[in-house]
Amino acid sequence: MTIEKTLSIIKPDAVQNKHIGNIIKRFESNGLTIEKMMMKHLSQEEASEFYAIHKERPFFNDLIEFMTSGNVVIIVLSGENAVSKNRKLMGHTDPEQAEKGTIRSDFAKSIDANAVHGSDSLENAAIEIGFFFTSCCRR
Ligand code: CMP
Repeated sequence: MTIEKTLSIIKPDAVQNKHIGNIIKRFESNGLTIEKMMMKHLSQEEASEFYAIHKERPFFNDLIEFMTSGNVVIIVLSGENAVSKNRKLMGHTDPEQAEKGTIRSDFAKSIDANAVHGSDSLENAAIEIGFFFTSCCRR
């Protein structure tokens, strides 16, 4: 059994549409545990640094504008194969292509406003968790 940690962000659209509880229920009822959680309004600088990997992509500016448009909920999840389990629960990046019953299919409207972010690998999970949750109180 591999117990992993992964990072989830409930995005501004899902917060605005009052889906925080529904999304957390999906995590908990599928064997994931909430280890840490905080609500935050990301600054331009934080969002740009977090998504730096997409800096050259045509959607980067829209992504940063959207991610700084309202509060997000940042969560550390743990559980067996947490990275892939969370990706499966989230569904395809584009809600129109997401399998029925996934978070994005049920709670998201577009590829920009797609309800949740989730780490795509164990390596990136460690980087993303470290970005928001340090040993004390940096952010
Ligand atoms: P996320 O998992 O947070 O990672 C980057 C985000 O960019 C992605 O979800 C989408 O919300 C957004 N995005 C917008 N357009 C695209 C695209 N064409 N391909 C991938 N991600 C996109």
